Amino acid sequence: MDFEFSEEQKMIQQMARDFATKEIKPKALELDRTERHPAEIIQKMAELNLMGIAIPDIYGGGGADNVSYVVALEEISWGCASVGVIMSVNNSLVCDPIHTFGTEEQKKKFLTPLASGKKLGCFGLTEPEAGSDAAAQKTTAVLKGDEWMINGKKNFITNGNVADYCVLLAMTDRSKGYRGISSFIIDCKGPGVAVGVVEKKLGIKASGTAELILEDCRIPKENLLGQEGQGFYVAMNTLDGGRIGIAAQALGIARAALEAAIEYSKTRMQFGQPISKFQAIQWMIADMATELDAARLLTLKAGFLKDQKQRYEKEAAMAKLFASEAASRITTKAIQIHGGYGYIQEYNVERHFRDARITEIYEGTSEIMRLVISSNILKGR
Ligand code: CAA
Repeated sequence: MDFEFSEEQKMIQQMARDFATKEIKPKALELDRTERHPAEIIQKMAELNLMGIAIPDIYGGGGADNVSYVVALEEISWGCASVGVIMSVNNSLVCDPIHTFGTEEQKKKFLTPLASGKKLGCFGLTEPEAGSDAAAQKTTAVLKGDEWMINGKKNFITNGNVADYCVLLAMTDRSKGYRGISSFIIDCKGPGVAVGVVEKKLGIKASGTAELILEDCRIPKENLLGQEGQGFYVAMNTLDGGRIGIAAQALGIARAALEAAIEYSKTRMQFGQPISKFQAIQWMIADMATELDAARLLTLKAGFLKDQKQRYEKEAAMAKLFASEAASRITTKAIQIHGGYGYIQEYNVERHFRDARITEIYEGTSEIMRLVISSNILKGR
Protein backbone atom coordinates (compact mmCIF):
# COMPACT_ATOMS: atom_id res chain seq x y z
CA MET A 1 0.00 0.00 0.00
CA ASP A 2 1.45 3.32 -1.08
CA PHE A 3 -0.22 6.72 -0.66
CA GLU A 4 2.53 8.56 -2.54
CA PHE A 5 1.78 9.85 -6.06
CA SER A 6 4.30 8.95 -8.78
CA GLU A 7 6.56 11.69 -10.12
CA GLU A 8 4.38 11.95 -13.25
CA GLN A 9 1.18 12.23 -11.18
CA LYS A 10 2.77 14.96 -9.03
CA MET A 11 3.86 16.83 -12.16
CA ILE A 12 0.38 16.66 -13.68
CA GLN A 13 -1.14 17.84 -10.39
CA GLN A 14 1.22 20.82 -10.22
CA MET A 15 0.66 21.71 -13.87
CA ALA A 16 -3.15 21.57 -13.48
CA ARG A 17 -2.99 23.53 -10.19
CA ASP A 18 -0.83 26.28 -11.73
CA PHE A 19 -3.11 26.50 -14.74
CA ALA A 20 -6.28 26.60 -12.61
CA THR A 21 -4.76 29.28 -10.35
CA LYS A 22 -3.62 31.55 -13.18
CA GLU A 23 -6.09 30.95 -15.98
CA ILE A 24 -9.34 29.60 -14.52
CA LYS A 25 -10.07 30.76 -10.96
CA PRO A 26 -9.72 34.49 -11.73
CA LYS A 27 -12.44 34.11 -14.42
CA ALA A 28 -14.84 31.84 -12.55
CA LEU A 29 -17.13 34.54 -11.17
CA GLU A 30 -17.42 36.24 -14.60
CA LEU A 31 -18.12 32.88 -16.28
CA ASP A 32 -20.89 32.18 -13.77
CA ARG A 33 -22.45 35.58 -14.41
CA THR A 34 -22.19 35.57 -18.19
CA GLU A 35 -22.93 31.85 -18.64
CA ARG A 36 -20.61 31.76 -21.65
CA HIS A 37 -18.70 28.72 -22.94
CA PRO A 38 -15.05 29.25 -21.89
CA ALA A 39 -13.59 28.39 -25.32
CA GLU A 40 -10.27 30.15 -24.70
CA ILE A 41 -9.68 28.13 -21.50
CA ILE A 42 -10.58 24.83 -23.17
CA GLN A 43 -8.16 25.59 -26.00
CA LYS A 44 -5.31 26.12 -23.54
CA MET A 45 -6.29 22.95 -21.68
CA ALA A 46 -6.03 21.09 -24.98
CA GLU A 47 -2.45 22.33 -25.33
CA LEU A 48 -1.76 20.89 -21.85
CA ASN A 49 -3.18 17.49 -22.90
CA LEU A 50 -6.06 17.78 -20.44
CA MET A 51 -8.89 17.02 -22.86
CA GLY A 52 -7.91 13.38 -23.40
CA ILE A 53 -5.52 12.93 -20.54
CA ALA A 54 -5.78 9.14 -20.16
CA ILE A 55 -5.92 8.39 -23.90
CA PRO A 56 -2.68 7.06 -25.46
CA ASP A 57 -0.61 9.70 -27.23
CA ILE A 58 -0.89 7.85 -30.56
CA TYR A 59 -4.54 8.96 -30.52
CA GLY A 60 -3.78 12.53 -29.52
CA GLY A 61 -4.16 12.01 -25.77
CA GLY A 62 -1.95 12.69 -22.77
CA GLY A 63 -0.98 9.04 -22.23
CA ALA A 64 -1.42 9.40 -18.45
CA ASP A 65 -3.33 7.11 -16.07
CA ASN A 66 -6.75 7.50 -14.48
CA VAL A 67 -5.31 8.52 -11.12
CA SER A 68 -3.70 11.48 -12.94
CA TYR A 69 -7.10 12.21 -14.50
CA VAL A 70 -8.70 12.39 -11.03
CA VAL A 71 -5.91 14.58 -9.70
CA ALA A 72 -6.01 16.98 -12.67
CA LEU A 73 -9.80 17.18 -12.75
CA GLU A 74 -9.93 18.07 -9.04
CA GLU A 75 -7.57 20.99 -9.72
CA ILE A 76 -9.48 22.22 -12.78
CA SER A 77 -12.83 21.98 -10.92
CA TRP A 78 -11.28 23.80 -7.96
CA GLY A 79 -10.75 26.64 -10.44
CA CYS A 80 -14.24 26.42 -11.95
CA ALA A 81 -16.77 23.60 -11.81
CA SER A 82 -18.15 24.43 -15.27
CA VAL A 83 -14.73 24.00 -16.85
CA GLY A 84 -14.41 20.79 -14.83
CA VAL A 85 -17.52 19.20 -16.31
CA ILE A 86 -16.60 20.20 -19.86
CA MET A 87 -13.29 18.39 -19.34
CA SER A 88 -14.93 15.43 -17.61
CA VAL A 89 -17.50 14.83 -20.37
CA ASN A 90 -14.93 15.04 -23.16
CA ASN A 91 -12.54 12.67 -21.36
CA SER A 92 -14.89 10.15 -19.75
CA LEU A 93 -18.04 10.13 -21.84
CA VAL A 94 -16.64 10.67 -25.31
CA CYS A 95 -12.93 9.81 -25.65
CA ASP A 96 -13.11 6.82 -23.31
CA PRO A 97 -15.90 4.89 -25.11
CA ILE A 98 -14.39 5.58 -28.54
CA HIS A 99 -11.05 4.33 -27.23
CA THR A 100 -12.64 1.26 -25.61
CA PHE A 101 -15.19 0.28 -28.25
CA GLY A 102 -14.12 2.09 -31.44
CA THR A 103 -12.52 0.67 -34.56
CA GLU A 104 -9.06 1.80 -35.62
CA GLU A 105 -10.69 4.05 -38.26
CA GLN A 106 -13.00 5.62 -35.65
CA LYS A 107 -10.04 6.22 -33.38
CA LYS A 108 -8.13 7.96 -36.15
CA LYS A 109 -11.08 9.96 -37.42
CA PHE A 110 -12.83 10.92 -34.17
CA LEU A 111 -10.72 10.08 -31.13
CA THR A 112 -7.56 11.85 -32.27
CA PRO A 113 -9.16 15.29 -32.74
CA LEU A 114 -11.27 14.84 -29.59
CA ALA A 115 -8.44 13.70 -27.31
CA SER A 116 -6.13 16.43 -28.58
CA GLY A 117 -8.86 18.97 -27.87
CA LYS A 118 -9.16 20.15 -31.47
CA LYS A 119 -12.78 19.01 -31.31
CA LEU A 120 -15.18 18.81 -28.38
CA GLY A 121 -17.58 15.98 -27.63
CA CYS A 122 -20.87 15.31 -25.86
CA PHE A 123 -22.75 12.19 -24.75
CA GLY A 124 -26.32 11.68 -25.93
CA LEU A 125 -28.03 9.23 -23.62
CA THR A 126 -30.64 11.18 -21.66
CA GLU A 127 -34.06 11.83 -23.18
CA PRO A 128 -37.13 13.58 -21.78
CA GLU A 129 -38.49 10.15 -20.74
CA ALA A 130 -35.21 8.29 -20.27
CA GLY A 131 -33.34 9.75 -17.30
CA SER A 132 -32.55 7.29 -14.51
CA ASP A 133 -34.30 4.66 -16.64
CA ALA A 134 -31.62 4.88 -19.30
CA ALA A 135 -32.94 1.83 -21.17
CA ALA A 136 -36.24 3.61 -22.04
CA GLN A 137 -34.76 5.11 -25.22
CA LYS A 138 -37.24 6.53 -27.73
CA THR A 139 -34.66 7.74 -30.27
CA THR A 140 -34.44 5.31 -33.17
CA ALA A 141 -31.71 4.40 -35.63
CA VAL A 142 -32.70 2.54 -38.79
CA LEU A 143 -30.20 1.13 -41.28
CA LYS A 144 -31.02 2.29 -44.81
CA GLY A 145 -28.46 1.05 -47.30
CA ASP A 146 -25.08 2.33 -46.19
CA GLU A 147 -26.47 4.85 -43.72
CA TRP A 148 -28.17 4.93 -40.33
CA MET A 149 -31.13 7.28 -40.16
CA ILE A 150 -31.61 8.66 -36.66
CA ASN A 151 -34.70 10.36 -35.26
CA GLY A 152 -35.39 11.54 -31.75
CA LYS A 153 -34.64 14.06 -29.06
CA LYS A 154 -31.92 14.13 -26.41
CA ASN A 155 -31.95 16.54 -23.51
CA PHE A 156 -29.72 17.78 -20.67
CA ILE A 157 -26.71 17.19 -22.92
CA THR A 158 -23.58 18.75 -21.40
CA ASN A 159 -21.57 20.52 -24.16
CA GLY A 160 -24.55 19.84 -26.49
CA ASN A 161 -24.68 23.44 -27.78
CA VAL A 162 -20.96 23.60 -28.65
CA ALA A 163 -19.89 20.02 -29.35
CA ASP A 164 -18.51 18.76 -32.66
CA TYR A 165 -19.21 15.07 -32.09
CA CYS A 166 -21.65 13.11 -29.97
CA VAL A 167 -21.54 9.54 -28.70
CA LEU A 168 -25.24 8.87 -29.05
CA LEU A 169 -27.51 6.03 -27.95
CA ALA A 170 -30.53 4.95 -29.98
CA MET A 171 -32.88 1.99 -30.37
CA THR A 172 -32.08 -0.22 -33.32
CA ASP A 173 -34.49 -3.02 -32.32
CA ARG A 174 -37.21 -2.10 -29.83
CA SER A 175 -38.40 -5.71 -29.50
CA LYS A 176 -35.14 -6.58 -27.72
CA GLY A 177 -35.46 -4.00 -24.92
CA TYR A 178 -32.09 -2.76 -23.68
CA ARG A 179 -30.40 -5.36 -25.91
CA GLY A 180 -31.85 -3.44 -28.87
CA ILE A 181 -29.93 -0.24 -28.03
CA SER A 182 -26.85 0.67 -30.10
CA SER A 183 -24.30 3.46 -29.85
CA PHE A 184 -23.15 5.76 -32.63
CA ILE A 185 -20.78 8.63 -33.32
CA ILE A 186 -22.64 11.63 -34.70
CA ASP A 187 -21.31 14.78 -36.33
CA CYS A 188 -23.18 17.47 -34.39
CA LYS A 189 -22.61 20.01 -37.17
CA GLY A 190 -23.94 17.63 -39.83
CA PRO A 191 -27.39 17.69 -41.48
CA GLY A 192 -30.32 16.49 -39.42
CA VAL A 193 -28.86 17.60 -36.06
CA ALA A 194 -30.10 20.78 -34.40
CA VAL A 195 -29.52 22.31 -31.00
CA GLY A 196 -32.82 22.98 -29.20
CA VAL A 197 -33.27 24.71 -25.84
CA VAL A 198 -30.11 25.66 -23.96
CA GLU A 199 -31.14 25.36 -20.33
CA LYS A 200 -30.96 28.04 -17.64
CA LYS A 201 -29.59 26.35 -14.54
CA LEU A 202 -28.93 26.73 -10.82
CA GLY A 203 -25.17 26.17 -11.18
CA ILE A 204 -22.35 25.15 -13.55
CA LYS A 205 -23.64 28.04 -15.62
CA ALA A 206 -20.68 28.30 -18.00
CA SER A 207 -21.20 24.74 -19.15
CA GLY A 208 -23.86 24.45 -21.83
CA THR A 209 -26.73 22.03 -21.20
CA ALA A 210 -28.73 21.60 -24.38
CA GLU A 211 -31.35 19.67 -26.27
CA LEU A 212 -30.19 17.82 -29.37
CA ILE A 213 -32.88 17.27 -31.98
CA LEU A 214 -32.29 14.57 -34.59
CA GLU A 215 -34.51 14.71 -37.65
CA ASP A 216 -33.69 12.24 -40.40
CA CYS A 217 -30.07 12.53 -39.36
CA ARG A 218 -28.07 10.30 -41.72
CA ILE A 219 -24.69 8.99 -40.68
CA PRO A 220 -22.41 6.46 -42.41
CA LYS A 221 -22.95 2.81 -41.48
CA GLU A 222 -19.41 2.68 -40.08
CA ASN A 223 -20.27 5.24 -37.37
CA LEU A 224 -21.85 2.47 -35.30
CA LEU A 225 -19.76 2.34 -32.10
CA GLY A 226 -19.29 -1.23 -30.89
CA GLN A 227 -21.64 -3.99 -31.99
CA GLU A 228 -25.28 -3.46 -32.89
CA GLY A 229 -27.28 -4.11 -29.71
CA GLN A 230 -24.29 -3.43 -27.44
CA GLY A 231 -25.22 0.20 -26.79
CA PHE A 232 -26.61 -0.19 -23.26
CA TYR A 233 -23.43 -1.95 -22.21
CA VAL A 234 -21.36 0.83 -23.87
CA ALA A 235 -23.41 3.44 -21.98
CA MET A 236 -23.14 1.70 -18.59
CA ASN A 237 -19.42 1.06 -19.01
CA THR A 238 -18.90 4.67 -20.06
CA LEU A 239 -20.87 6.00 -17.10
CA ASP A 240 -18.78 3.93 -14.67
CA GLY A 241 -15.77 5.95 -15.79
CA GLY A 242 -17.81 9.16 -15.92
CA ARG A 243 -18.75 8.75 -12.27
CA ILE A 244 -15.07 8.88 -11.31
CA GLY A 245 -14.90 12.17 -13.20
CA ILE A 246 -17.90 13.65 -11.42
CA ALA A 247 -16.52 12.53 -8.05
CA ALA A 248 -13.27 14.36 -8.92
CA GLN A 249 -15.27 17.44 -9.95
CA ALA A 250 -17.05 17.34 -6.56
CA LEU A 251 -13.66 17.18 -4.81
CA GLY A 252 -12.51 20.34 -6.57
CA ILE A 253 -15.70 22.25 -5.71
CA ALA A 254 -15.57 21.11 -2.06
CA ARG A 255 -11.89 21.98 -1.67
CA ALA A 256 -12.44 25.47 -3.08
CA ALA A 257 -15.25 26.01 -0.54
CA LEU A 258 -13.23 24.61 2.37
CA GLU A 259 -10.21 26.79 1.56
CA ALA A 260 -12.41 29.89 1.30
CA ALA A 261 -14.01 29.07 4.66
CA ILE A 262 -10.65 28.53 6.41
CA GLU A 263 -9.28 31.79 5.01
CA TYR A 264 -12.38 33.73 5.97
CA SER A 265 -12.51 32.26 9.49
CA LYS A 266 -8.96 33.47 10.17
CA THR A 267 -9.68 37.05 9.15
CA ARG A 268 -13.27 37.61 10.23
CA MET A 269 -13.26 39.27 13.69
CA GLN A 270 -16.25 38.87 15.99
CA PHE A 271 -16.41 39.22 19.80
CA GLY A 272 -12.82 40.53 19.66
CA GLN A 273 -11.16 37.58 17.95
CA PRO A 274 -11.04 35.73 14.62
CA ILE A 275 -14.01 33.38 14.36
CA SER A 276 -11.52 30.49 13.79
CA LYS A 277 -10.89 30.67 17.56
CA PHE A 278 -14.45 29.46 18.24
CA GLN A 279 -14.98 25.74 18.65
CA ALA A 280 -18.21 25.88 16.63
CA ILE A 281 -16.18 26.97 13.58
CA GLN A 282 -13.29 24.59 14.33
CA TRP A 283 -15.62 21.59 14.41
CA MET A 284 -17.20 22.54 11.12
CA ILE A 285 -13.74 22.84 9.53
CA ALA A 286 -12.72 19.48 11.02
CA ASP A 287 -15.81 17.76 9.59
CA MET A 288 -15.39 19.41 6.18
CA ALA A 289 -11.72 18.41 5.89
CA THR A 290 -12.39 14.85 7.04
CA GLU A 291 -15.21 14.36 4.54
CA LEU A 292 -13.11 15.82 1.75
CA ASP A 293 -10.24 13.46 2.50
CA ALA A 294 -12.55 10.43 2.66
CA ALA A 295 -14.13 11.44 -0.66
CA ARG A 296 -10.71 11.85 -2.26
CA LEU A 297 -9.54 8.42 -1.07
CA LEU A 298 -12.65 6.75 -2.53
CA THR A 299 -12.20 8.58 -5.83
CA LEU A 300 -8.51 7.77 -6.15
CA LYS A 301 -9.26 4.13 -5.34
CA ALA A 302 -11.81 3.93 -8.16
CA GLY A 303 -9.31 5.53 -10.58
CA PHE A 304 -6.59 3.17 -9.37
CA LEU A 305 -8.79 0.09 -9.94
CA LYS A 306 -9.59 1.33 -13.45
CA ASP A 307 -5.86 1.66 -14.11
CA GLN A 308 -5.33 -1.88 -12.82
CA LYS A 309 -7.99 -3.13 -15.29
CA GLN A 310 -10.00 -4.42 -12.34
CA ARG A 311 -13.79 -4.04 -11.95
CA TYR A 312 -14.59 -0.66 -10.50
CA GLU A 313 -18.30 0.05 -11.08
CA LYS A 314 -19.17 -0.32 -7.37
CA GLU A 315 -16.19 1.79 -6.30
CA ALA A 316 -16.95 4.49 -8.90
CA ALA A 317 -20.55 4.66 -7.65
CA MET A 318 -19.36 4.84 -4.02
CA ALA A 319 -16.92 7.61 -4.92
CA LYS A 320 -19.55 9.63 -6.77
CA LEU A 321 -22.21 9.10 -4.08
CA PHE A 322 -19.96 10.10 -1.22
CA ALA A 323 -17.99 12.88 -2.95
CA SER A 324 -21.10 14.58 -4.34
CA GLU A 325 -23.05 14.46 -1.08
CA ALA A 326 -19.94 15.54 0.85
CA ALA A 327 -19.50 18.47 -1.55
CA SER A 328 -23.06 19.59 -0.82
CA ARG A 329 -22.48 19.36 2.95
CA ILE A 330 -19.09 21.08 2.74
CA THR A 331 -20.35 23.96 0.59
CA THR A 332 -23.36 24.41 2.92
CA LYS A 333 -21.00 24.70 5.91
CA ALA A 334 -18.73 27.08 3.97
CA ILE A 335 -21.69 29.44 3.56
CA GLN A 336 -22.53 29.08 7.26
CA ILE A 337 -18.97 30.00 8.28
CA HIS A 338 -19.16 33.08 6.03
CA GLY A 339 -22.50 34.10 7.61
CA GLY A 340 -24.31 36.79 5.59
CA TYR A 341 -21.29 37.25 3.31
CA GLY A 342 -21.63 33.64 2.24
CA TYR A 343 -24.90 34.57 0.59
CA ILE A 344 -23.23 37.26 -1.53
CA GLN A 345 -21.85 36.45 -5.00
CA GLU A 346 -18.42 38.09 -4.52
CA TYR A 347 -17.51 35.62 -1.78
CA ASN A 348 -17.77 32.66 -4.20
CA VAL A 349 -19.07 30.09 -1.72
CA GLU A 350 -22.68 30.55 -2.86
CA ARG A 351 -21.44 29.55 -6.37
CA HIS A 352 -19.67 26.51 -4.98
CA PHE A 353 -22.90 25.55 -3.19
CA ARG A 354 -24.92 25.89 -6.44
CA ASP A 355 -22.27 24.07 -8.48
CA ALA A 356 -22.02 21.18 -6.01
CA ARG A 357 -25.72 20.34 -6.20
CA ILE A 358 -25.66 18.89 -9.71
CA THR A 359 -22.96 16.37 -8.81
CA GLU A 360 -25.63 14.51 -6.82
CA ILE A 361 -27.79 14.30 -9.95
CA TYR A 362 -25.97 13.96 -13.28
CA GLU A 363 -24.26 10.81 -14.52
CA GLY A 364 -26.55 8.91 -12.16
CA THR A 365 -28.40 10.32 -9.15
CA SER A 366 -27.41 9.42 -5.58
CA GLU A 367 -30.40 7.04 -5.57
CA ILE A 368 -29.09 5.24 -8.69
CA MET A 369 -25.60 5.14 -7.11
CA ARG A 370 -27.08 3.38 -4.05
CA LEU A 371 -28.82 0.94 -6.43
CA VAL A 372 -25.57 0.21 -8.29
CA ILE A 373 -23.61 -0.24 -5.03
CA SER A 374 -26.17 -2.51 -3.38
CA SER A 375 -26.76 -4.63 -6.49
CA ASN A 376 -23.00 -5.22 -6.78
CA ILE A 377 -22.76 -6.13 -3.09
CA LEU A 378 -25.74 -8.48 -3.28
CA LYS A 379 -24.15 -10.17 -6.30
CA GLY A 380 -21.12 -10.87 -4.09
CA ARG A 381 -18.70 -8.24 -5.31
N1 CAA B 1 -21.25 -2.29 -16.90
C1 CAA B 1 -21.55 -3.23 -17.81
N2 CAA B 1 -22.78 -3.77 -17.94
C2 CAA B 1 -23.74 -3.32 -17.11
C3 CAA B 1 -23.50 -2.34 -16.14
C4 CAA B 1 -22.18 -1.84 -16.05
N3 CAA B 1 -21.86 -0.89 -15.14
N4 CAA B 1 -24.62 -2.11 -15.46
C5 CAA B 1 -25.57 -2.91 -16.00
N5 CAA B 1 -25.03 -3.64 -17.00
C6 CAA B 1 -25.69 -4.66 -17.83
C7 CAA B 1 -26.25 -5.77 -16.95
O1 CAA B 1 -25.27 -6.76 -16.69
C8 CAA B 1 -27.37 -6.29 -17.81
O2 CAA B 1 -26.86 -7.07 -18.85
P1 CAA B 1 -27.23 -8.66 -18.97
O3 CAA B 1 -28.72 -8.75 -18.90
O4 CAA B 1 -26.64 -9.05 -20.28
O5 CAA B 1 -26.58 -9.30 -17.79
C9 CAA B 1 -27.90 -5.04 -18.50
O6 CAA B 1 -26.83 -4.07 -18.45
C10 CAA B 1 -29.11 -4.45 -17.83
O7 CAA B 1 -28.81 -4.22 -16.48
P2 CAA B 1 -29.92 -3.80 -15.44
O8 CAA B 1 -31.03 -4.81 -15.48
O9 CAA B 1 -29.25 -3.55 -14.12
O10 CAA B 1 -30.47 -2.45 -16.11
P3 CAA B 1 -31.56 -1.41 -15.64
O11 CAA B 1 -32.39 -1.07 -16.81
O12 CAA B 1 -32.22 -1.90 -14.39
O13 CAA B 1 -30.68 -0.10 -15.34
C11 CAA B 1 -29.38 1.37 -14.02
C12 CAA B 1 -29.64 -0.05 -14.50
C13 CAA B 1 -28.18 1.25 -13.08
C14 CAA B 1 -30.55 2.00 -13.27
C15 CAA B 1 -29.02 2.24 -15.25
O14 CAA B 1 -30.14 2.47 -16.08
C16 CAA B 1 -28.41 3.58 -14.89
O15 CAA B 1 -27.20 3.68 -14.63
N6 CAA B 1 -29.24 4.63 -14.85
C17 CAA B 1 -28.73 5.99 -14.65
C18 CAA B 1 -28.45 6.61 -15.96
C19 CAA B 1 -27.49 7.74 -15.85
O16 CAA B 1 -26.50 7.68 -15.14
N7 CAA B 1 -27.76 8.78 -16.59
C20 CAA B 1 -26.89 9.90 -16.66
C21 CAA B 1 -27.01 10.52 -18.00
S1 CAA B 1 -25.53 11.01 -18.70
C22 CAA B 1 -25.15 12.52 -18.08
O17 CAA B 1 -25.63 12.97 -17.08
C23 CAA B 1 -24.09 13.14 -18.87
C24 CAA B 1 -23.89 14.57 -18.84
O18 CAA B 1 -24.15 15.24 -19.83
C25 CAA B 1 -23.14 15.16 -17.71
